[in-house]
Amino acid sequence: MKTVNPTDLQPTEFYRFMIGTIGPRPIAFASTIDNQGNVNLSPFSFFNVFGYNPPTLVFAPSINRYGHKKHTLLNLEEVGEVVINVVNYAMVEQMSLASAEFERGINEFDKTGFTAIPSAIIRPPGSPNHRQRSSAL
Ligand SMILES: Cc1cc2nc3c(=O)[nH]c(=O)nc-3n(C[C@H](O)[C@H](O)[C@H](O)COP(=O)(O)O)c2cc1C
Repeated sequence: MKTVNPTDLQPTEFYRFMIGTIGPRPIAFASTIDNQGNVNLSPFSFFNVFGYNPPTLVFAPSINRYGHKKHTLLNLEEVGEVVINVVNYAMVEQMSLASAEFERGINEFDKTGFTAIPSAIIRPPGSPNHRQRSSAL
């Protein structure tokens, strides 16, 4: 049996161990908005559902390689609302593109070709649809 002591590993090495061991993982494709109204859409695989009453979903935007908070977290600190969109196979390539390091304020719905649908109750839009979804599924 392989034994791994996290204290012997660099965080990047342990990251590789964790993502290779715990999988497959669902993707939280998180739509957020800043207090200027700029929309953000980014994927997170450190994600799951933890309860239903109250509804509890957890995802983890980590500190980026420059030591900065990701835009999703910054937006959530400004406007504490998020839409968790669910990713299917037809959306994979555009979802991956949405993970690129765009400048803050850039709207990844526009960059990736997903359709932003206004939400009924909260400010961030949701329900991205792959442009070829109907033909790809
Ligand atoms: C499939 C996939 C899963 C990802 N999961 C995470 C994650 O769980 N946590 C994280 O911090 N970044 C994750 N990323 C990277 C973020 O999507 C990426 O850093 C993104 O630029 C963050 O955007 P933001 O700064 O606009 O919030 C993932 C990327 C991909 C493609």
